[in-house]
Amino acid sequence: MNILITGSKGQLGLELENLGHQFPDLNLFCTDKFSLNILNLEEAEQYVLKNKIDVVVNCAAYTDVNKAEEEFKMADEVNHLAVRNLGLIAKRHNIKLIHISTDYVFDGNSSIPYKETDATNPQNAYGVSKLNGEKALLEINPKNSMIIRTSWLYSEFGNNFVKSMLKLSKEKESITVVSDQIGSPTYAKDLALTILQIIPEINSDDLQIYHYANKGQCSWFDFASAIMKISQQNCEVLPIPSSAFKTKAKRPKYSLLNTDKIQHTFNLEIPNWEDALRECILKG
Ligand SMILES: NC(=O)c1ccc[n+]([C@@H]2O[C@H](COP(=O)([O-])OP(=O)(O)OC[C@H]3O[C@@H](n4cnc5c(N)ncnc54)[C@H](OP(=O)(O)O)[C@@H]3O)[C@@H](O)[C@H]2O)c1
Repeated sequence: MNILITGSKGQLGLELENLGHQFPDLNLFCTDKFSLNILNLEEAEQYVLKNKIDVVVNCAAYTDVNKAEEEFKMADEVNHLAVRNLGLIAKRHNIKLIHISTDYVFDGNSSIPYKETDATNPQNAYGVSKLNGEKALLEINPKNSMIIRTSWLYSEFGNNFVKSMLKLSKEKESITVVSDQIGSPTYAKDLALTILQIIPEINSDDLQIYHYANKGQCSWFDFASAIMKISQQNCEVLPIPSSAFKTKAKRPKYSLLNTDKIQHTFNLEIPNWEDALRECILKG
């Protein structure tokens, strides 16, 4: 099977590329925005046809949540209009499409984990652009395709919370971290492995939405504390409320994802967030 990975220089894209050798039946075509810019419908369609692509895994995205407040047009182009392009290509040529979305499509007012069917209500521009992408795909409704919403993604690659905390721990004796936003960190390697495992099993008449995150829940403060503990750094982590840490983009207070659907459909075991974090830090 020929698999196109878009945005392959990002966190998830690099994890997919790294794991590819474990799946000899899957022939990965890894493209970054210079070798394949998904904003260009014609270019993307030609690439898919020329390389006889069977599955597109869309890891390309505009992911700077704060900047998106000022650059909504750019965020929406990548997270919505380009996703629409991929949906059209998937529908026209009967190709499987796996698109990645976010917990930030929810408003965070829940107190129980969000299910795929729960009402969306993004609180920031990034969330709006990602939801626009989801809506465009649902309207096109390509067969054998899925949207996987994930949360708090990190890996040994790219910019992420884990790498920021490890850097700060070497520069500071103490740091303050928000303790009133709850979610689940997700190791991009676990999500990448899941994607590669389920590709042959995707079989649906309608576009399906799934949630994937590592098991368990924590606050950013808990997450930072675990990072320091596992990496054996002496940097003290102090809890603060969101009101004391102003950011351009508003974040949901609670964005835990209910992962029952993907677990049951594909018979998956999802690692706990602390075990996943340990693996990422200790192997890095
Ligand atoms: N990071 C998180 O915490 C998080 C949480 C929930 C969901 N997600 C979702 O998970 C997915 C993967 O996220 P990630 O953290 O791996 O993202 P990432 O590291 O920011 O990678 C995204 C990649 O897409 C590339 N890209 C941007 N515009 C493109 C275009 N027009 N054509 C092709 N490639 C383009 C980016 O290149 P440049 O960097 O050069 O622009 C980057 O290499 C995204 O859909 C994201 O929305 C992420």
